[in-house]
Amino acid sequence: MRPIIRRNVIAISALLGSLFWFIDGLLDYFFFFEGSLVGILFTNVPPHELYIRLVWFFGLLLIGVFSTRIIEEREEALKEKQDLEELLRSVRNVNQLLVKENEREDLIQETCEILYKTRGLKHVWIALFDDSEELIAASQSGLEEKFEPIRKKLRSGTLPKRISRAMDESSTLITRGSEGISEDWPLAEECREATTVTHRLEHNSKVYGIISACLPEKVTDEELGLLDEVAGDIAFGLYNKDVEEKRKRAVEKLARSRKQFRRAVQLAPFPMMIHAEDGEVFALNDRWENISGYGEEEISTISDWTKRAYGEERNNVREHINELYELDRRIDEGEYELTTKDGSKRIWDFSSAPIGRSDDGRRLVLSIAHDVTERKRIEQKVEKERDRAQRYLNIAGSIIVLVDKESKVKEINKKGCEILGYEKDEVIGKNWFDNFIPEKVRETIIEESRKPLMEGAIEEAEYYENSILTKDGEERIIAWENTPIRENGQIVGTLSSGIDITERKKMEELLQEEHDRIEDSFVQLAETTSRVLGVRDPYTEAHEQRVAELAKEVGSRMGLDEEKLLGLYIGGVLHDIGKIAIPETILTKPGELKDVEWDMIKSHPEVGYNQILEDTDFPWPVAEMTLHHHERLDGSGYPDGLEEEELTTEVRILGAVDVVEAMSTRRPYRKARTKDRTLGVLEDEKTTKFDPEVVGILVDMIKEGIIQFGGK
Ligand SMILES: [Fe+2]
Ligand SMILES: [Fe+2]
Repeated sequence: MRPIIRRNVIAISALLGSLFWFIDGLLDYFFFFEGSLVGILFTNVPPHELYIRLVWFFGLLLIGVFSTRIIEEREEALKEKQDLEELLRSVRNVNQLLVKENEREDLIQETCEILYKTRGLKHVWIALFDDSEELIAASQSGLEEKFEPIRKKLRSGTLPKRISRAMDESSTLITRGSEGISEDWPLAEECREATTVTHRLEHNSKVYGIISACLPEKVTDEELGLLDEVAGDIAFGLYNKDVEEKRKRAVEKLARSRKQFRRAVQLAPFPMMIHAEDGEVFALNDRWENISGYGEEEISTISDWTKRAYGEERNNVREHINELYELDRRIDEGEYELTTKDGSKRIWDFSSAPIGRSDDGRRLVLSIAHDVTERKRIEQKVEKERDRAQRYLNIAGSIIVLVDKESKVKEINKKGCEILGYEKDEVIGKNWFDNFIPEKVRETIIEESRKPLMEGAIEEAEYYENSILTKDGEERIIAWENTPIRENGQIVGTLSSGIDITERKKMEELLQEEHDRIEDSFVQLAETTSRVLGVRDPYTEAHEQRVAELAKEVGSRMGLDEEKLLGLYIGGVLHDIGKIAIPETILTKPGELKDVEWDMIKSHPEVGYNQILEDTDFPWPVAEMTLHHHERLDGSGYPDGLEEEELTTEVRILGAVDVVEAMSTRRPYRKARTKDRTLGVLEDEKTTKFDPEVVGILVDMIKEGIIQFGGK
């Protein structure tokens, strides 16, 4: 209520009181009292009149005061009613806004403006925060540029106690003046004489932000209730916006997913079809059409498809497809042979899965096919090849074993099982070395053959003999050809083919023994024959024995094999056997020999050959060595005057060794030659009479002391 009205009412009451005083004085002057009018009015008032007039005066004044009060209260009530109506209008406007406004920022800005305008606030601001309490939006009305520092503080999170408390409490926080705010809060001055109502914006236990309104006067409970309602409405509005945004995002995502799904189906590198439970084909991709030849226009239903692709089998296939609509998970259906539009046969491997319902509620199934035609053809071919290979393996006369890199048997043929005495099942998967190789040779075989093969250190195929252990505990000797198996350049195992050579080995051993025995017999025969000669001519016997040993050594240094060396030895032992026919007197005659005597001596190779050795059946050219051991490369030798290539290796060795041995020893008719003279002879004649290689070896042997001079 305005004070001027209030003062007027009190003045009128006082005036009426004064008026009553005069009227009462005048009435008393005219009707009851004598004296002057002034005396009756002021100076000579009878006491009872004075009481009456005072009672009336103050009574009227009191009535005036009470009336003022009543008017004031009425006006206040009216004002409150107006404020409430304004607030109610604000609430209505805010509610309309919530429905109308889509953007969060626009919503809070409009709300601030409505509250500011309709309720006559000093100012109002709203701030919204995200889940991590970061400021996401802020609006105000009534503050304009003064709001910027507040916005900064809200952004930095440095809020006054009043705001923080309001954020933590669900009820409205009412503060008077600067209570709960520090001096540096930008609105400290603004709020000093006002009431501030702060309320967090909350719905469904989620706090969206805060609203703070500054009112110039105190607020009533009804107003608070309405402000509370406004805060709740804003929070509800924000909640709805959230829900709406989420829904929109979900719808967009779904639309995107559908688009991507359709695109994925369309571009998939394998045939795909979506079909409904009533048999309608919803979609099929390019790959389906490319391979089968049938497009959507030709197979708009499952019946069209089954009729075209499966012919007489269509009813069976259709029955199976119908079962798909009852599925609740993916199923691998298996392989089906179908006929394409051009009449060729393809094999498709199907799997299907339910993918929900169409918009009109029909169950949908996605069927994916993998065209395995080529793979099946290759598999069949491989299978055929494998069967054929298995047959070859089984009819092969050799063992064939495939051992992987863990030394496990991956494959073994029938022959292998027969030799080992096991069934195939008992061998496959077993460690080859631990189970089928005798322990005593196991490590050696692994080190010498298996490891180098697996490491790629030896040839692709390697001949290797070793024994295997049969089920009966018998050892069989197998000659193996081993080949490493490679996959992508890596050695993954070995393939071995082996022949059982146990019997052959036994025969070979027997033969060798026999052979050794025969050789021994020949050696004994030769040595015995030589000893017979030695009875009459011990020099020659010793000479022969020594020539035999030296010839063998020279032959060995020349790299001749054992067989030839033995032949050389026997040739050496017998080379002068013809001397048996020469009279002892000539053989041991000191001094010059007559021609005839010399001719007799020179006949000893022919005598040995013709009379003793020609008909013998030595396995070496012993007779030939005996006949020609005095032949020389330049043709100066005897008895046949052979030259160069006509002299065999054995003859070349024996000829040179014979001379050196003879020179190195004393004879009854002469002394031993010196080492130097012997070396001189060899040097002179090494290219004319003797083989240079043989001479070189003999020189070495002389220098090494193997041939000594001056013996008997
Ligand atoms: Fe001789
Ligand atoms: Fe001789």
